[in-house]
Amino acid sequence: MLKKNLTKIKKENRVRFYLNDDLIEKSICDPQQTLLDFLRIDQNLKGTKEGCAEGDCGACTVLIGKVNKDNKVSYRTANSCIVFLPSIDSSHLITVDGLSKGFEDLHPVQEAMVKNSGAQCGFCTPGFVMSMYGLFLKTKKPTKAQILNSIQGNLCRCTGYGPIISAAEDLSKSFFCSNDFLLKNNKKWAVKLTDLIKNNPNEKEKNPNYSIPKSTKELKEVLHQQENSTIVAGSTDVGLWVNKQFKKIRPIVFINQIDELKYIKIYKDKISLGSLVTYSDFQDFVTKYFPNLKEYINRIGGDQIRNMGTIGGNIANGSPIGDIAPLFLALGAKMKIMGKETTRKINVENFFIEYGLQSINPREYIHDFEIPNPKTKPFDFMAYKVSKRRYEDISTITGAFFYEKKLNNKRNVRFAFGGMAGIPKRSKSLENLFKQKIESDFDENNIEMAIKNDFQPLTDCRATSLYRQRVAENLFKKFSYFVKYI
Ligand SMILES: Cc1cc2nc3c(=O)[nH]c(=O)nc-3n(C[C@H](O)[C@H](O)[C@H](O)COP(=O)(O)OP(=O)(O)OC[C@H]3O[C@@H](n4cnc5c(N)ncnc54)[C@H](O)[C@@H]3O)c2cc1C
Ligand code: FES
Ligand code: FES
Repeated sequence: MLKKNLTKIKKENRVRFYLNDDLIEKSICDPQQTLLDFLRIDQNLKGTKEGCAEGDCGACTVLIGKVNKDNKVSYRTANSCIVFLPSIDSSHLITVDGLSKGFEDLHPVQEAMVKNSGAQCGFCTPGFVMSMYGLFLKTKKPTKAQILNSIQGNLCRCTGYGPIISAAEDLSKSFFCSNDFLLKNNKKWAVKLTDLIKNNPNEKEKNPNYSIPKSTKELKEVLHQQENSTIVAGSTDVGLWVNKQFKKIRPIVFINQIDELKYIKIYKDKISLGSLVTYSDFQDFVTKYFPNLKEYINRIGGDQIRNMGTIGGNIANGSPIGDIAPLFLALGAKMKIMGKETTRKINVENFFIEYGLQSINPREYIHDFEIPNPKTKPFDFMAYKVSKRRYEDISTITGAFFYEKKLNNKRNVRFAFGGMAGIPKRSKSLENLFKQKIESDFDENNIEMAIKNDFQPLTDCRATSLYRQRVAENLFKKFSYFVKYI
């Protein structure tokens, strides 16, 4: 009887996806197994390397293809070390081992690396190759800036980046699409993946360890029935809880197949953003609506992290140094939090209660955010990030500044900082100072006092308390010059 039940569970709880050319149907015993372990241990595909196991070095880079709204497959880079296997259900996974298919010997990206001496020990090379390949799938003739962006999340200790960049530049001169098996067969893969999605047995399954809801209705039901489950969106935080803190996070609710939460809707006076909008999608949107913020978003993680991490996850984790929270606080964003029978709309500002405590219970999830539309209601908005490394680094301090001139010369301002307290927080004293003093120069002492009034920042491994205080003052000055002279 037990054997019969086990067989039943195994059959029903399969995750299905394509690995290079092959269909994989895998029974999930441990939903915390990483994609990297699956590739290297279960499949014996050792091309994908493990360096840091925390999303930082890019040695484990793979491409994950998903059908988009235009019925095409978009392939995006991801760090397989922090992706859990059920996250790639119904996807097309491409690893470095499958790249040369359709070519006599090496894939042109690999060839360019060889020709330009882009590898010494070779440990990082598969990751660089996959990042570059991901770039060329998106853009036939990338600019130097696009090339640099695509490898922000890849670390090389011995070759030096010059030859690697030269390899990408060489490729951008001679595009290679004719033999490439993904470019040639995009339609075919779209049909195959759509078929997988339509005929997915997961829809019926009930596994106590994990679930993959496809709609918010299913999500609400799962959260209602399963106490203490962990929502996983892009897993760029949760992946580290498992790999570095050895946490058991079962039962897991993988929400990345809920298309309802992946939208950006533009209304006359507001913009609505689903919680599953990734940093990369947000970056495309920001380029059009908040061009000032383009560089700010470009400094979140590397390309792989931006493809995986979501704005909902960034707010939900409650981190005092998450990069999205100060933006939303300064913009006066609202958020919708939903449960099976409840819908709450609150200011994002009120979501953060104290360090480690947010206004959400385990049976709720974040549905979306609402921000003002700068095209119909003009305002000045700027944000700055200070970190130890320019790219692929978490913030030490962030500052976001919103300023709207109202009728009768009244000023609507909101200034928010990350890294200055246990939660991301507005500086009301600084806002008042700005409202009063905009016409004349700011007094240095008043700026210092206003910030001291609102914050007593910590000294930790990233910075001293005094450093944080001074940086916050300087970010504010930078903004005040910006609004004065534009
Ligand atoms: C190498 C690396 C670099 C990074 N760089 C940066 C950086 O520069 N700036 C920065 O701000 N962050 C950075 N991060 C942190 C991380 O990218 C973010 O915090 C990310 O936004 C989390 O989103 P996610 O979708 O991956 O969330 P997950 O890891 O899936 O989840 C994070 C938390 O949010 C919860 N959650 C997720 N979605 C929802 C939802 N819709 N409703 C309710 N709860 C939800 C989960 O249960 C979990 O508690 C970095 C991480 C790594 C690994
Ligand atoms: S092993 Fe370093 S990013 Fe995955
Ligand atoms: S070639 Fe050795 S780490 Fe890059």
